[in-house]
Amino acid sequence: MTYVPEADLGTPAGRGTETMRVTVDGRTVEVPAGTSVMRAAGEAGINVPKLCATDSLEAFGSCRMCLVEVDGVRGTPASCTTPCTDGMVVTTQSDELGRLRRGVMELYLTDHPADCAGCARGNCEMQALAATVGVAEVRYPRREPARQHASYDETNPYFAYDPAACIVCSRCVRACAETQGTFALTVAGRGLESAISPGGTDFFSSECVSCGACVQACPTSALTEKSVIDLGMPTRAVDTTCAYCGVGCSFRAEVQGQGDGTRVVRMIPSKTGGANEGHSCVKGRFAYGYAHHPDRQLHPLVRDSIDDEWRVVTWEEAIAKAASGFKAIQDEYGIGAIGGISSSRCTNEEVYVVQQMVRAGFGNNNVDTCARVCHSPTGYGLKQTFGTSAGTQDFASVADADVILLIGANPTDAHPVFASRMKRRLREGARLIVADPRRIDLVRSPHVQAAYHLPLQPGSNVAFVNAMANVAVTEGLYDAAFLRERCENVDGYLAFIADPQHSPESVEPITGVPAATLREAARLYASAGNSAIYYGLGVTEHSQGSTMVMGMANLAMVTGNIGRRGVGVNPLRGQNNVQGSCDMGSFPHELPGYRHISGDDVRAIYEQRWGRVLDPEPGLRIPNMFDAALTGTFRGVYIQGEDLAQSDPNTQHVQAALRAMDLVVVQDLFLNETARLAHVFLPGTSFLEKDGTFTNAERRINRVRPVFPPRQGKDEWQITCEIAQAMGYPMRYENAAEIMDEIAATTPTFAGVSFAALDAEGSMQWPVTAAAPHGTPTMHVGGFVRGKGLLVETVYVPTTERSNRRYPLILTTGRILTQYNVGSQTRRTDNNAWHLEDILEIHPADAEMRGISTGDLVQLSSRVGSTTLRARVSSRMPPGVVYTTFHHPVTGANVVTTENSDWATNCPEYKVTAVQVGVANARGETDLEAERRRAGVEYAHTP
Ligand code: SF4
Ligand code: SF4
Ligand code: SF4
Ligand code: FES
Repeated sequence: MTYVPEADLGTPAGRGTETMRVTVDGRTVEVPAGTSVMRAAGEAGINVPKLCATDSLEAFGSCRMCLVEVDGVRGTPASCTTPCTDGMVVTTQSDELGRLRRGVMELYLTDHPADCAGCARGNCEMQALAATVGVAEVRYPRREPARQHASYDETNPYFAYDPAACIVCSRCVRACAETQGTFALTVAGRGLESAISPGGTDFFSSECVSCGACVQACPTSALTEKSVIDLGMPTRAVDTTCAYCGVGCSFRAEVQGQGDGTRVVRMIPSKTGGANEGHSCVKGRFAYGYAHHPDRQLHPLVRDSIDDEWRVVTWEEAIAKAASGFKAIQDEYGIGAIGGISSSRCTNEEVYVVQQMVRAGFGNNNVDTCARVCHSPTGYGLKQTFGTSAGTQDFASVADADVILLIGANPTDAHPVFASRMKRRLREGARLIVADPRRIDLVRSPHVQAAYHLPLQPGSNVAFVNAMANVAVTEGLYDAAFLRERCENVDGYLAFIADPQHSPESVEPITGVPAATLREAARLYASAGNSAIYYGLGVTEHSQGSTMVMGMANLAMVTGNIGRRGVGVNPLRGQNNVQGSCDMGSFPHELPGYRHISGDDVRAIYEQRWGRVLDPEPGLRIPNMFDAALTGTFRGVYIQGEDLAQSDPNTQHVQAALRAMDLVVVQDLFLNETARLAHVFLPGTSFLEKDGTFTNAERRINRVRPVFPPRQGKDEWQITCEIAQAMGYPMRYENAAEIMDEIAATTPTFAGVSFAALDAEGSMQWPVTAAAPHGTPTMHVGGFVRGKGLLVETVYVPTTERSNRRYPLILTTGRILTQYNVGSQTRRTDNNAWHLEDILEIHPADAEMRGISTGDLVQLSSRVGSTTLRARVSSRMPPGVVYTTFHHPVTGANVVTTENSDWATNCPEYKVTAVQVGVANARGETDLEAERRRAGVEYAHTP
């Protein structure tokens, strides 16, 4: 696609139900009521000059550049703030309008630097507009507002602010407020002295979260991406999808050059992106530089022992070594002695071929996915209760929620673009209940105040959700008609949940939440018109993760909050393709589409297509693979794009298991912690090189399109196919589209999906079937996928992981905005400017008792291991609970997490580890740096 900026229609779409017929410069157009004259003109193909308007923001009406004439109306109204009326006749071009617009432009230019016309930054609407309206010279004496002498702000790693070029249109201020919801910017001063201010400080030190919305909104070069300043403007664009979190934002990758020489100039979030509608966070917009980081490994590597040096080899040699090694293990130890692990970072097509290779090529079902360690309880719990392993709504649904119950999720850090949507709805008046041990930002942030913050004790989720349902049932706030018509086990469940043992008063000692507060929050949830549940890993990563998911489904069913917009049970998925990797049959017991491997009819579909008899017995899960490795029965593994040695719990156990294997094959971008224990390294591709699809938390299938060819020479699905072929199993596809065609032909929920259909629709939410050819934004409308919704009696069982005298604190883990997961990508970008190391947050009382101050190095110990990191004393934490992230290998937070796991899915219990914290022994900064060097960790950016 050659470079054409996305059209800007000036104001958001009208939302009215009536249709207005308007004539603009002789062209007639029909628009919904509430549409501005400016937008109607744009839809008729007529651009009205504008400066303060842009279609991502509500009209402001300050610049007076967009004046038009309307038949029967006196004067020249601003088209951005004038709504269309039926039969309206508008004129956008006349001598008088031209004169007025030139006058406005001249006034702007008198306050602007004299060299405006010669400015070469290239991304300036105003420069182009001056030429359009015909202003070549300024007749008035130039003025020099104070901002022309203010200092250039380059403190943000990714964009710069040049006050001299600012016209104080406030698009940036409004973008930060309306789109992002951070309110970091203000217009300071008045008249000639006015200027944009990030809270009286510089951008880096301000509340700014670097989402870039202001940069995108700016009509001059005042706010500009540093990449544009360095490289100049893009020459072509490719539509693709962010590869970080499960929000799945759509982007235009705007680039220069072709083929291997392609350089990304900037990433612009797509206005038509179903998940993000033109917004992004710092990761998706700016943190793509890792694709060209010098650490990127571009050649296959092999070695006989993990103590040897790597040898660079050809693809043929590396694939032959992997294949022959796997075959040799199977010859000696049996078919089941090897397996594969797929990655939620990879495309659906790449994941599909991994499970195919394992099932048809290896001849067993020893395939699992990194989704095991995050959202497997979501798949299990929602399948049991609703009949499908996925969330119930699209993100846009939150705009219709009256009450939002947020459990174990921190969207402003982990799902930022969804957080912005949520904050918008909260500013409109929806009420928020936050159930989380930590006082996350959403509890109180600009213009957002949670109605209730319930600081649950880690491990008490099930007791909490049962108490919420207990209040709904015992206080008569449940939806009896919904239960009667749509659910099963109603009487059994109502009797179970009404038992006084589930009352807020009974569970107060478990949850730590005052009964009266929990009761009020439950009433709020149960009595609202539309109540929606959103949740994250604080729900799933527990020994009762699956029980909790079912408990939330119960709560939604009991109150009738399922099957329409504004309600539902919605997992905020961690990685970009967690949903997809589960959909694609990555679990040892399920073929694509969540169909059990024991089903003869389902196996027959794949046996016929793949030409192999499939094993009807489920294979090994990741923890079973590790255990079997230590007993010597599992000896080889293929790991696609997943750093198990850093991301999985009880690192020592994982490392011992990997060391015990004869053959570990790692396919990844970088020589990560797992690759240190590998024998074959196969270089992978970044999202900028992939062709395929990701499926986000809304079940939305988005296209990922290559911006440049694979830098290491091969598509990842091709590498997998070649290993299978070298093992004697013929597995060939021409391209990724052909793999998707096979997925669609064999998986009912994907029946209507193809690359061509996705290209036409933009994106589609599965199920995509003959009955729903454009996809399904809301699930379970009028009936559940499983028929009736199943109310499961969710008995609370305390975790065995308890605090005690030796380990008196509970550690819980999470994410931070600027780093991502194990950090292998974000640590290789300038995002390090914000978060260079993992930090332990500790309550002031717990800190004081231990003599810990902010900035101290502390020792964090559990019964399985210990690590050292820096402390931050924070009243965000409740007493008795500490918190950290796991983005940096040198900290290795998972050294201390245990192998406890969810009873149904083995999802690790990352969120509850009994620990002790103390000031580190005689360790100083220098030692930490030395430790980093010993660990071989290199950082892209050292402050
Ligand atoms: S980058 Fe985002 S958060 Fe920062 S000032 Fe701009 S809009 Fe606000
Ligand atoms: S920085 Fe840009 S968007 Fe903000 S007020 Fe100045 S010109 Fe307008
Ligand atoms: S919210 Fe998630 S998907 Fe969207 S830009 Fe940020 S990291 Fe990417
Ligand atoms: S664009 Fe309409 S007043 Fe500025």
